[in-house]
Amino acid sequence: MNWWETEFVSVRGNRLQIAGREAAELAELYGTPLYVYGKDRILELYARLDDAFAQHSALPARICYAMKANPHRGILRLLRKRGAWIDAVSPCEVETALKAGFPAERILFTGTSVSRADLRSVFAVDGLTVNIDAAEQLDLMSEVKREFPGQTIRVSVRWNPGIGRGFNAKAITAGKRSSDGTPIKFGVEAKKVIDVFTRARKLGFRPVGLHQHLGSGWVREDFGKVQTAVDRMVRKAREVEKAGFPLEFIDFGGGFGPRYLKSRGVFPVEDYIAYLSDAVAKAGLSAKALAIEPGKYLVGDAGVLLLGVEYVKESYGNIFACVDGGTFNTVPRPAIYLSAHHEIVNASRIDGESQARITVAGNLCETGDVFGRERSMPLPRSGDILAVLCAGAYCRSMASNFNMREIPREILV
Ligand code: LLP
Repeated sequence: MNWWETEFVSVRGNRLQIAGREAAELAELYGTPLYVYGKDRILELYARLDDAFAQHSALPARICYAMKANPHRGILRLLRKRGAWIDAVSPCEVETALKAGFPAERILFTGTSVSRADLRSVFAVDGLTVNIDAAEQLDLMSEVKREFPGQTIRVSVRWNPGIGRGFNAKAITAGKRSSDGTPIKFGVEAKKVIDVFTRARKLGFRPVGLHQHLGSGWVREDFGKVQTAVDRMVRKAREVEKAGFPLEFIDFGGGFGPRYLKSRGVFPVEDYIAYLSDAVAKAGLSAKALAIEPGKYLVGDAGVLLLGVEYVKESYGNIFACVDGGTFNTVPRPAIYLSAHHEIVNASRIDGESQARITVAGNLCETGDVFGRERSMPLPRSGDILAVLCAGAYCRSMASNFNMREIPREILV
């Protein structure tokens, strides 16, 4: 069995199967490029989180799907039916979640650089919780609140615990600076947290939660630092409660993901859930619920992108599989983040005699438009179907029309 195989993607007769169907047949039926998402895989991953909480936590868990990872309507409906909550970051995400049937009470809006217009639209959704990203945001919030007299507006505070973790400097969202020196814009700094709770209440808001999000794409080696951040969160929650703000929920954000790369250790999600459940239980907080905000974990490896090989090109000793899609329009992560790896398999011949070092090149006018660089794989032939794995999260949702190319069709199987 290959390391990347799951019940969603597997091999039969040297060809790739997606949810039990021939990848090449799906490609022929729907055309390439094509995103394929797997319902069963998403539900299985959701169940793993749900079970871990059931096993380790006395408090109910809110599994808030970070819909920025993939706001596909079918995926939203699927998760809503299973009892998921939503982490939304823009008014349009809120609206989409509502349309998919999520009740406002199950939506947390976490904005940054929030505008008057943003606040107007989220305050209008009665029952939703608004996460405060800055002490400096309160004046504007208070001003907009006047347009909603008599309405109780639930708020929580996103604090920055001073530690961040992520697979790339651009995806680390806590700490003072990211690993490349970029100042981190998110959250309220530790010493201002109580003041934000106090002012929020004074201004007539109803403070109900404390939130943190460290970053995205944790691997096994991150576990120690993540545990430290959990400890900090629990200490801060205790401080907040002691100051007179009983918390309804404590939200640890998202960050753990699927296995993108064979050589990287997988983050121990169950141990993490056990750890944070235990830490909260020991602290004797009055919190009624725990929350996490998985994006990548739930949908990352439940999606693939199918591409057709147009021809194989050789130039100055480099071999290119020239495919019928461009990274920016389909799987932009490798073009944006140097450290983003997506495994690529030849769905038409998983193993082949002539192994070669293949660069999978897209159809856009940029050298960075490669899905994978010098990958060891069987020499593709014109008409083969390549599958870019782990394309369920932050692929369609970050795709653009660069070069005036279309964004591919998506199917949920
Ligand atoms: N909660 C908040 C407040 C977030 O900002 C994010 C992601 C999540 C939850 C979900 O994180 P996840 O569980 O998916 O790691 N574009 C990057 C990822 C950026 C994620 C930013 N925030 C990528 O392609 O890897």
